Amino acid sequence: MATRIISTGSYVPEQIITNDDLAKVVDTSDEWITQRTGIKQRHISLGENTSELAVNTAKQLLERAGVAADKVELIIVASVTADYGTPSIACMVQKEIGASNAVAFDVVAACSGFMFALSIADKYISAGIYNNAIVIGAETLSKILDWSQRSTCVLFGDGAGGAYVEKSETDGIIEEELGSKGELYEILTEGYTRCSNVFNDIEEGTDSLWYVNMDGREVFKFATKSVVKSVERVIAKSCVSPQEIKYVIPHQANIRIVEIISNKLKIPYEKFYVNIEKYGNTSSASIPIALNELNEKGLIERGDKILLTGFGGGMTWGTMLISW
Ligand code: ACO
Repeated sequence: MATRIISTGSYVPEQIITNDDLAKVVDTSDEWITQRTGIKQRHISLGENTSELAVNTAKQLLERAGVAADKVELIIVASVTADYGTPSIACMVQKEIGASNAVAFDVVAACSGFMFALSIADKYISAGIYNNAIVIGAETLSKILDWSQRSTCVLFGDGAGGAYVEKSETDGIIEEELGSKGELYEILTEGYTRCSNVFNDIEEGTDSLWYVNMDGREVFKFATKSVVKSVERVIAKSCVSPQEIKYVIPHQANIRIVEIISNKLKIPYEKFYVNIEKYGNTSSASIPIALNELNEKGLIERGDKILLTGFGGGMTWGTMLISW
């Protein structure tokens, strides 16, 4: 038994911020951002919160799959920018789409979040507990960016993407790997909330920890190492050769990271689907937005072998080989 993607969807806020727009507010340039990252523009929310991006994606998934909301059994949303501490985004999606019979919860694995969420859905479905699931990565990273920090604010964008999956007797997820390296957690953090009580005053000097803080070079090193090893292990465990893989959908963090991964794996760069120039890094949404774009363009056919791979805060990584 396998878990198969039946439909894909995505939703991004309308407002586009170009590199030139950013150069008006921080000391940067289109040339620097394009050369160092590959990003040309990003979508930034004008008030729509993460749950709204996720709800729009979920509605599209069900419409495209032709499935009624009350038939959905599981909803998992991956995000590091939830509207609330509680409720989960997944419960808000459940309410808004009317999926009254579903179990709903969120997962946190930063930019690897969609891979973790899809893996969890696959386990429930493979174990025969649920027959289907909505899996979404959704972020409004704009609310956790320090817009005066040029080293981080130019990198990210807002958006959501997802997949509706069902139990399948034939095609689906072939092989996968998730990984975590918690000892490196300090190289990429965001959203720190302070601890206070009646006896101790609030911690001093932690305000900036609310925003994305990153040691860019260490993240770069981690990404190029962990993704390559993970992809090699997943391919080795499967009966699929690298030549048989039609597309690789990497997490869209930096075009230079993708080029290095392609070189190290000796998988031609043309097989990597990259759309970072339009969206920037949308964290957990980046892989499903790219997958949906590939699907909408009609570039994937039944039986094609597609490899999804991402890395993110935690630090975490996840790779999945799919037969479409
Ligand atoms: N515009 C202009 N100059 C800038 C900008 C900017 N937006 N940001 C930094 N600089 C300057 C720095 O101040 C520095 O100047 P200095 O030499 O005078 O000190 C110079 O550019 C070089 O800075 P570095 O940080 O060394 O630049 P680097 O080539 O490493 O690129 C980057 C930075 C793009 C962040 C890179 O390290 C990177 O991509 N790291 C990977 C991490 C990543 O992709 N994170 C995304 C999110 S994490 C995730 O998705 C899990």
